[in-house]
Amino acid sequence: MASKNVFIAVIGAGGVGKCFLSQLETLSKRLSTNPSFPKISLVLVSRSTKTLYSPKYEALAFENLATSLASASTALSLAEVIEYLSAAPAKVILVDNTSSQDVADQYPQVLSKGISIVTPNKKAFSGSYKLWQDIFSSAASSGAKVYHESSVGAGLPTISTLKELVDTGDEVTRIEGVFSGTMSFLFNSFAPTEGSGGKWSAEVKKAKELGYTEPDPRDDLNGLDVARKLTILARLAGLPVESPTSFPVQSLIPKELESVASGDEFLQRLPEFDAQMEETKVAAEKEGKVVRFVGSIDMGKKQVKVGLEKFDRSHPIAALKGSDNIISFYTKRYGSNPLIIQGAGAGGDVTAMGVTGDLIKVLERS
Ligand SMILES: NC(=O)c1ccc[n+]([C@@H]2O[C@H](COP(=O)([O-])OP(=O)(O)OC[C@H]3O[C@@H](n4cnc5c(N)ncnc54)[C@H](OP(=O)(O)O)[C@@H]3O)[C@@H](O)[C@H]2O)c1
Repeated sequence: MASKNVFIAVIGAGGVGKCFLSQLETLSKRLSTNPSFPKISLVLVSRSTKTLYSPKYEALAFENLATSLASASTALSLAEVIEYLSAAPAKVILVDNTSSQDVADQYPQVLSKGISIVTPNKKAFSGSYKLWQDIFSSAASSGAKVYHESSVGAGLPTISTLKELVDTGDEVTRIEGVFSGTMSFLFNSFAPTEGSGGKWSAEVKKAKELGYTEPDPRDDLNGLDVARKLTILARLAGLPVESPTSFPVQSLIPKELESVASGDEFLQRLPEFDAQMEETKVAAEKEGKVVRFVGSIDMGKKQVKVGLEKFDRSHPIAALKGSDNIISFYTKRYGSNPLIIQGAGAGGDVTAMGVTGDLIKVLERS
């Protein structure tokens, strides 16, 4: 197997992409002395407007990669990238480190050409159910692999754990958790288990200043990111969820602020609506509970939902710290004490770890 070569193409070199490339450099050095793994060669790296690649499929140097990419004068279209990779004289793994729907829409075509995919991009797996089916049927017919561990819970072993539960014949009855680092941070400081927490608008402002939110916090507060993750888990557990908008998702954006022009204006006007969130917090406190933004899947009732729920202060979801994620799997085997996965659910290095781990799985199976 030592003589086999596998080409790696990386689309997207932002926060996660840069960390992934650094992990890939370490991995390629480590694997070069391991005869049970193929030799890996990075042959393409791209950003939205630049492509660095080797037309003759020779390995690109990791040294000064960011500078070489920044000064690249080529920008291949997605179709040209796929054509280039399809003509490669060895197996290819495409690493999609973008959040692009356009790239995601090409997965069935890429996989049908025998090119494997590893990615933290949620878009392909949480879009239409048809795209989901096309991806996995293309992979099944060509033998290409597709792994997306970091699309839920970043590097936390969420998807691999769920797959293993299902594949080994356990019966998943319920999945519940906090799936957004931003929402985790916001509620852990707005409604802490000890002390009283700040005003809702002040906590959102603070989270934005600390870099925990998207540039426009409404992109976190609309709940869609969590809904996408729930869509992926529900499908893996066996529910054919049509789309992330086909089940109830509670948005924390006041109706009046949905259409304000900018994120800054939104933040400026948010204090006008603090009373609504305060009421929810106080109602939970009266029952000795705290409020959290959670997603849940009830397999028996075939129900998926995303929104605010109240939890006892001693509940693992209430006791979460910082911006951590928590995912509880209730199954027949595990009984009333769920299998719980908890830890950082965002960040370049941990997200890239999930991608690199997926890449190793594909290499092991190449
Ligand atoms: N960051 C996290 O903590 C985290 C956690 C879990 C999952 N994820 C997922 O990981 C992925 C990457 O996240 P990120 O934080 O690294 O995002 P990011 O910093 O915005 O980087 C995205 C990269 O993709 C490139 N890109 C976008 N569209 C492209 C296209 N059509 N062709 C080629 N390149 C394209 C961008 O190019 P430019 O450099 O030219 O803009 C940029 O380099 C996303 O799917 C995200 O949801 C991230």
